[in-house]
Amino acid sequence: VLINELSGLRVLEMRLRENLSLSEVIIVPGDSDKEPWIKNEMGKAAAMRLKLELIGHHVIAVTGGTTTASVAEMMTPGTKDQDLLFVPARGGLGEKVENQANTICSTMAAKARGKYRLLHLPDQLSKETYLSLMEEPGVKEVMELIHSASIVIHGIGDAKTMANRRNSSSAVLEKLEREKAVAEAFGYYFNQKGEVVHRVRTIGLQLNDLKHSDFIMAVAGGSSKAEAIAAFMKHGPKKVLVTDEGAANKLLSGT
Ligand code: F6P
Repeated sequence: VLINELSGLRVLEMRLRENLSLSEVIIVPGDSDKEPWIKNEMGKAAAMRLKLELIGHHVIAVTGGTTTASVAEMMTPGTKDQDLLFVPARGGLGEKVENQANTICSTMAAKARGKYRLLHLPDQLSKETYLSLMEEPGVKEVMELIHSASIVIHGIGDAKTMANRRNSSSAVLEKLEREKAVAEAFGYYFNQKGEVVHRVRTIGLQLNDLKHSDFIMAVAGGSSKAEAIAAFMKHGPKKVLVTDEGAANKLLSGT
């Protein structure tokens, strides 16, 4: 039974990879919406896949969220010749401390026995503050590291869920509704076509910067995220997706 189940998943992975034009898809059994522990399985699968990339020197940028938090928990120390530096992909997106990129980045570094650098920034930045913070030497230095990241690990969320979780203003909520936002990643909100309809102003990796990274891994699952995953992946860049069966089935059924 297990063998059949596994080969069924491999077929699902192949179909999803073609369907979303990704380079690689890893699917764990189950639906994390129904069984929350499936998120740990995604974390484990992501950490295992990541390990294959973590040879030599790497700067790894990570985003926040509960899914990347479970990747962090599952990381294990690597070999002696590893030289890993973890940085948050972007600062201040309105998450609780345990789900912030900074926290996840330091956990990953501790578990993988790497180093880390953090970005300490307020969530809401006015344009003036943003511009002057960008001139701070400490911020500049971390920014350069972030831009040099060879590996990016990120979550994807449903637009409405994320806007509410961040206590966004009613003006923002209305805008997202009006623009029919369905997905969120890196502080950017996307419509069904994968077009950016809104973004949170914060320092760090911008969407365009992703094209400079060699290995980009999205970790997102649960059937409720199917539409968000499809929308974000339309925007590209198209790399590795770690997800669960719940999301995969819904993505392939197109509903
Ligand atoms: O806020 C950081 C973030 O990575 C978002 O970009 C993403 O939508 C969300 O977290 C995913 O969170 P979770 O894994 O908890 O669904």
